[in-house]
Amino acid sequence: MRVTTLLATLLAGSAAIAASPSPRGLGPNLNAGNHYGAPTPPWGPGAHPGWYFGKHPEAHPGLTCLSGLICGILKLLPLGLQCPKTPPGTTPSTPSDGYTQTFSNLSGATQAGDYMTFGLVDTVADCKAMCNTVPGCGFVNTYHDVNGKNGSPLLTCSLFRNCHTAADATNTGGQTQPNGSVNHIANSDGWCKA
Ligand SMILES: *[C@@H]1O[C@H](CO)[C@@H](O)[C@H](O)[C@H]1NC(C)=O
Ligand SMILES: *[C@@H]1O[C@H](CO)[C@@H](O)[C@H](O)[C@H]1NC(C)=O
Repeated sequence: MRVTTLLATLLAGSAAIAASPSPRGLGPNLNAGNHYGAPTPPWGPGAHPGWYFGKHPEAHPGLTCLSGLICGILKLLPLGLQCPKTPPGTTPSTPSDGYTQTFSNLSGATQAGDYMTFGLVDTVADCKAMCNTVPGCGFVNTYHDVNGKNGSPLLTCSLFRNCHTAADATNTGGQTQPNGSVNHIANSDGWCKA
């Protein structure tokens, strides 16, 4: 949850925000310039998700979880990222939710220069909700990174400015993990925001 980072930041004020030693905590790193905590895109070496938006923040102590106290802080700090208004897991993914599916169930994830940020979510709808909070976000790619992300079973949620088709779903994994396993991509879906 990174509450300690958060409290330290709050207590020490803006000078400490600028000097925060935490690579992934709230602070200067959770802004557009730093891809909201995920400066390396999912296809790059050592990529790490910038945030988690889902129902089980307690299970993800190493990530900035967009819930509870952190949502209150984000409202006060002009970082450009906000928690979605509705709690995770409450909104279904429907044909009338403002997104049109451009591809489904591919074994490649979107790789493109208009990458904005990526994090982890429980559901496709929660990823769309994240895109709705990030200024300029126009496209969502959700997928399972099998063997990647420390073996997390969660959906990877990557956000882009412009819409993409299956033609850009070129990240098929192939990244060697610390234990020697190699990741691959499954269930990759693309959603274009109207
Ligand atoms: C997605 O693709 C996998 C692998 O090809 C397949 O086993 C699975 O049934 C597909 N799922 C859906 C919902 O089509
Ligand atoms: C290696 O680690 C990944 C998580 O990064 C995990 O999914 C995979 O099962 C592990 N492989 C072995 C052989 O332990």
